[in-house]
Amino acid sequence: MKTLILYMSTHGCTINVAHRIAVKLGGEVALVNLNEKPQVQLDDYDRVILGGSIHAGKIQKEIQTFCKKNLTKLASKELGLYICCMYKGVEAEAQLRNAFPEILHRHAKAEAIMGGAFYFEKMNFVERFLVKKMTGTTKTTVKIDQDAIRRFSDKMKKPLAAS
Ligand SMILES: Cc1cc2nc3c(=O)[nH]c(=O)nc-3n(C[C@H](O)[C@H](O)[C@H](O)COP(=O)(O)O)c2cc1C
Repeated sequence: MKTLILYMSTHGCTINVAHRIAVKLGGEVALVNLNEKPQVQLDDYDRVILGGSIHAGKIQKEIQTFCKKNLTKLASKELGLYICCMYKGVEAEAQLRNAFPEILHRHAKAEAIMGGAFYFEKMNFVERFLVKKMTGTTKTTVKIDQDAIRRFSDKMKKPLAAS
């Protein structure tokens, strides 16, 4: 089973989560940054995991475009969807729902909200200002949900009939 984890990350958290999923899945896993390789060949993979992060309520435009362009192919794979974000509960769930097309939600074997991180040293002035204003936080804060990563990876690994 060949797996592709395709991600977009603004400051590094979604990459970090992608690597953790890859370790948990084991086997043949390709990690691809959509930013660096927009022409990825989906035909080479049986299992595809898409990950992105939420900024101002939305996932990266590149992920949205990739999903739209490859809807039929993605819907034919063992599919996993995840987001990194700092909101929790219903707000986070709404962000996850809006991040991917409905057909992919219906088809996905596993979906997850993986928590997130504010990496202040990687933010520009405006981002720092916004995060401070919205959350009061002024320091790097990492709130990656390890349990969510484990549950998601376990679900992705299960044979289809058992999922
Ligand atoms: C400018 C800015 C805006 C953000 N907006 C949201 C948001 O609307 N909702 C949310 O849940 N998290 C928001 N976040 C938190 C990010 O989703 C979180 O930092 C995530 O881990 C980023 O992942 P990345 O490092 O892979 O880009 C925001 C972060 C920044 C810096």
